[in-house]
Amino acid sequence: MLKPKVFITRNIPGSAIPLLKKQFQVKVYPKDQFIPRTELIKGVNWCDALLCLLTDKIDKEIIGANPRLKVISNYAVGYDNIDVAYATRKGIPVCNTPSQQVVEAVAEHTFALMLAVTKRLHEDEEYVREHFWKSWAPNLLLGMQILGKTLGIVGLGKIGSGVARRAACMGMKVIYSDVNRNLPFERQFKAKYRSLSQLLKTADVVTLHVPLLKSTYHLISFKQLKMMKKTAYLINTSRGSVVNEQALTKALKHHWIAGAGLDVYESEPDKNHPLHKLKNCILTPHTASATVEAREQMGKDAAENIIAVLQGRKPKKVVNSEVLCCVIQA
Ligand code: DGY
Repeated sequence: MLKPKVFITRNIPGSAIPLLKKQFQVKVYPKDQFIPRTELIKGVNWCDALLCLLTDKIDKEIIGANPRLKVISNYAVGYDNIDVAYATRKGIPVCNTPSQQVVEAVAEHTFALMLAVTKRLHEDEEYVREHFWKSWAPNLLLGMQILGKTLGIVGLGKIGSGVARRAACMGMKVIYSDVNRNLPFERQFKAKYRSLSQLLKTADVVTLHVPLLKSTYHLISFKQLKMMKKTAYLINTSRGSVVNEQALTKALKHHWIAGAGLDVYESEPDKNHPLHKLKNCILTPHTASATVEAREQMGKDAAENIIAVLQGRKPKKVVNSEVLCCVIQA
């Protein structure tokens, strides 16, 4: 009997590919770069299961390219790159990889960005490397103390809570906004629930942990940035389009806020982005989940989700569970 076919849109580290190769025919797009659309369509057309990345736009045309497609397994927590509604209409499970390892990696990276931008580490580093440093000086590159400051967490999922845990260890006060109130969390971290505008007006650091949805698109725009304190910082490790970057660029240029730490952007990458020229922001290339541990787990989870569906079992993480009744054997 012919083995089922799995198409992977880019080489991924760790045990995922060997795991899949044990039981399936596996093709990996051979170049270590973003897969062109024509190659993606070819790959989807060939396979029973697609393992894709957050950089792959899996829209109606791609999903429709293969009526035999049985599962779409995204190598990411976020799945805003996939037309989930359409996949659901077609009865195709869409899976993702929200493990504890990814939660910890992103929470750590959020903290790294927060510490780096408030301590101006990127400016410090440039100062030393570019030989501007002539002597110790009382006024040189002053930053902000973290102890006693208020952290505003927007979106209290697992990553937001992971950031809160770290903030408590650093002696920060925690406030949060979310669609739901979480009383046990409030008790555990002495955290206070706030509306988004209250949070923006009072936090010294605002950190974003919401998924990209219609309701969170440009959640932070001109009006919201104007509400923030002039001394406050914005951190974004969620999705770029949660922030209106035109507004953020203006806010940073005109010092409406003190700075920003960003891992995600509206367009990734954008070589000519005006943010690149601003010193009061620190920028990383969507690497918040880039730890060896997290990437290994993401690969394993993405592979195991495929194995489960192709074997007629329930996958560990599926975002449209309503389709499972039709694909899972009782
Ligand atoms: C995710 O998993 O959604 C992250 O953005 C990957 O870094």
